[in-house]
Amino acid sequence: MIKEDYIGPEMSGILERRSPEWIMNMILNPIQMLEEDSIAIELLERYNFEYMYNQNLLEEEAREILEYFRIID
Ligand code: HEM
Repeated sequence: MIKEDYIGPEMSGILERRSPEWIMNMILNPIQMLEEDSIAIELLERYNFEYMYNQNLLEEEAREILEYFRIID
C-alpha cells in the first residue's frame, strides 16, 4: 500500500527515510538486503519476518518506481 502499512511499510515519504540507492537495492535485491543490510533487517523484524520477495524487475522499471516515489507525498 502506498500510504498505509499493510504487509510491508507505506511508501509515502520513503525518500525522506532512505537514499535513492538504498531504495533501488531494496527493489532489485530484497533478499540480499534482508540478509545483509542493517536497516532492512530491522524492517524484517518489524514486519513479522515477512520477506519481501524479488519482484524480478528490470533496473529501468525499478528506476521508474523510484521516480514515482519522488512525486507521491
Ligand atoms: C514493485 C513492487 C514493490 C516495491 C517497489 C517495494 C518496495 C519496498 C521498499 C522501498 C521497502 C523499504 C521500505 C522502507 O524502508 O520503509 C520495502 C519493504 C518491504 N516490502 Fe516491498 N516492495 C514491493 C513489493 C512487495 C511485495 C509484493 C511484498 C509482499 C507481499 C512486499 C513486502 C515488503 C515487506 C514485508 C517489507 C519490509 C521488509 C521485510 O520485512 O521484508 N513488498 N518494499
